[in-house]
Amino acid sequence: MTFDHDLKASVRTIPDYPKPGIMFRDITTLLADARAFRRAVDELVNPWAGNKIDKVAGMEARGFIIGGAVAHQLSAGFVPIRKKGKLPHTTVRIAYSLEYGIDEMEMHVDAIQPGERVILVDDLIATGGTAEGAVKLLRQIGANVVAACFIVDLPELGGAAKLRAMDIPVRTLMTFD
Ligand code: PRP
Ligand code: ADE
Repeated sequence: MTFDHDLKASVRTIPDYPKPGIMFRDITTLLADARAFRRAVDELVNPWAGNKIDKVAGMEARGFIIGGAVAHQLSAGFVPIRKKGKLPHTTVRIAYSLEYGIDEMEMHVDAIQPGERVILVDDLIATGGTAEGAVKLLRQIGANVVAACFIVDLPELGGAAKLRAMDIPVRTLMTFD
């Protein structure tokens, strides 16, 4: 993990959002800072320079912003993993829980060909419920999930450890207690 104080300073914390007791780590301030946004995307992409990555998969909604930029830099395709009911073609769907709720996500069955090398991207990993659900969907359609990367890790909630236990290498750029 790379710890970068300046990058970390660009993330804003909102207490008690969306529920009492949650310290919400708001990356919109990082995204609005051109140097911080570029730096974050570069740091996520660097380990994969020269490696063949077929697809980047990103989770709605913040994962679309980061994942789209990462896919562009890797010259990879982008696959959206969406909250239920948004995708028009045949999907695979899974229920999942996250730090402050439950939901269902889905992806198109034909978004990835069996064996394609995929990186999963999101802004933040907390409990890992969202990322775990995404890995299960990707593996269900035969993707080779080679890594997962996130700008923010909340390690006390155990998400990164959960993914590593699923044999997914995890890269994160900063942690918050
Ligand atoms: C946030 C975040 C991750 C997820 C992490 O998304 O962008 O996808 O929570 O939590 P977890 O590790 O406990 O699963 P959210 O569902 O709030 O959706 P949004 O991107 O639409 O705001
Ligand atoms: N997603 C899950 N937990 C979160 C948190 N504490 N801040 C921002 N996004 C989150």
